[in-house]
Amino acid sequence: MSANGLEFNKVAASVLLAGIIAMTSGIISEGLYAKGEGEHGKEEKRGFSIEVADAAPAGGAPVADDKPVDIAPFMAKADVKAGEGLIKKCTSCHTFDKGGKNGVGPNQWGLVGSHFGHKDDYTYSAAIMAVKDRKLDAQGLSDFLANPKKDVPGNKMSFAGISNPQDRANLIAYLSTLK
Ligand code: HEC
Repeated sequence: MSANGLEFNKVAASVLLAGIIAMTSGIISEGLYAKGEGEHGKEEKRGFSIEVADAAPAGGAPVADDKPVDIAPFMAKADVKAGEGLIKKCTSCHTFDKGGKNGVGPNQWGLVGSHFGHKDDYTYSAAIMAVKDRKLDAQGLSDFLANPKKDVPGNKMSFAGISNPQDRANLIAYLSTLK
């Protein structure tokens, strides 16, 4: 083969390679874009929220938006101390001490094991009163806190939710010490 032929082959090979790279990255970014757009659309439907939901847990754990997650296995390894830290997400609206004042939301002393609308001196929305019989045990609380607006549509708690099931379990474990 002549020197020129070899040179031509090199050029041809790099053109081909560049084409392949362009194609694959096009496919990848298209996939990313489509996914991002879908999530954005969902985010917007949540309306006005104080904070956005946490990122989905790593490792492919189920996302709260779909089926309710069985919280028992997460409760089994819950970390009360970590849960105590998470209460900061709630204290702008709720007090958790015994006899504490109602704020934007009701005082939540003794929350775990109670039921929706458990405080007689707080004016709940009609949406919460309609599910008054629902128990707020660990599973009930987990289902609500994963996505409050979805669990009880029309309720007035402006909180996007805690999507990481282990975070929910940690928080519930801490809340259950407050009784
Ligand atoms: C932006 C204010 C706000 C934040 C933040 C907030 N809540 Fe609420 N929460 C409310 C309001 C308001 C209600 C009453 C909802 C209604 O009547 O529709 C409520 C209701 C609830 C209920 C419903 C049942 C009942 O009987 O009280 C639970 C459970 C609850 N909150 C737990 C929490 C926890 C746990 C957190 C923290 C992870 C939290 N909330 C964060 C405002 C808030």
